[in-house]
Amino acid sequence: MLVNTKDVLKEAQRKSYAVAAFNVFNLETVQAAVRVAEHEHQPVIIALGERYFPTVDVEGFAAMVRALASKASVPVSLHLDHAYEKESIVRAIENGFTSVMYDGSKYELNENILRTKEIVDLAHQAGVSVEAEIGSLARGAFSDEEEGDGTLTDPQSAKEFVAATGVDFLAAAIGTVHGMYQGEPNINLPLLEKIRDVVDIPLVLHGGSGTPDEMIRQTIKRGICKINVNTEVSMAAVSYLQNQSDNKSMPHLSSIMSDMQASMEPVMTKFVKLFAY
Ligand code: 13P
Repeated sequence: MLVNTKDVLKEAQRKSYAVAAFNVFNLETVQAAVRVAEHEHQPVIIALGERYFPTVDVEGFAAMVRALASKASVPVSLHLDHAYEKESIVRAIENGFTSVMYDGSKYELNENILRTKEIVDLAHQAGVSVEAEIGSLARGAFSDEEEGDGTLTDPQSAKEFVAATGVDFLAAAIGTVHGMYQGEPNINLPLLEKIRDVVDIPLVLHGGSGTPDEMIRQTIKRGICKINVNTEVSMAAVSYLQNQSDNKSMPHLSSIMSDMQASMEPVMTKFVKLFAY
C-alpha cells in the first residue's frame, strides 16, 4: 500500500529502526526494492532524484510506482530525492509522491529557511511530507549525486531550522559521503547525538553505500530513521552488465533485465536487514 513517508518514519522512530530509501530510475530498480521489502516484511521508500527528471518520464514513473505500491504487502512510499527547483516539487506533488526533499543546503541558513518554509507550506497543503538538509555531503567514488563541500550539520542551526520551517524529517551531515569512501570513513557520532538532543523529528542519513555495518547500527541507535542507498545497488547492476558484455551469445534483453534486477536484490536485502536491526 502507498503510504506517507512521515508515517513510516514516525513508526521507525518510535521503534528505533531505519527504513531504506532506495534510489531508483526504472521498472527493474523499483521491482527489486519492493520485492526485497516484501520478502523482509519491512517498509520501503522508493526515491527518485530530481536529477533523473530529464531522462525518466515522471508521470509514467509515478503511475508505475503507485500501481506496484497498491498491491504490495508492505508499506511503500514515493519520495522525491534532492530537489533544487520548486517546479520539480510541484510536479512530484501533482503525481502522488508522498514526500519531497527540498535541498537548499547550498544557501546560508536564513535563505535556506525561507526557501524551505515555502516548500513546506505548499507540500503540507497537499498532505505531502518534507525532508530538508542542513550541511552537505562530499562526493566519494562512483556517486551520481552533486558534489557537496562536506560541511557538517551544526546542531543549533538544525534546531532553529526545524522550528522555523516545520519540516517533517531532517538530513544531518555527520561525515558520510555520497558514493564509496575514498579512505577511512570519518563519521561523527557525538555530533549526531548533539543533533538528536535538540531535534525531535526523524533524522535521515544520506550516503548509505560503503558505510561500515557497525557504524550504521550506531547511527540508528542515535536516532537515524531513514537511510538513503544508491551507489552500491548501481554497482551491483553495472557489474552484472559488464560481465554480460563478455557474453558472445546473444541473450534476449528481457532476460538480461530480469537477471540485472536479480543482481541488485542481494545488495538491497543486506541493507534492509541491517536497518531493521
Ligand atoms: P549513496 O550513493 O552513498 O548510497 O547515497 C545515496 C544518497 O544519499 C541519495 O540521496
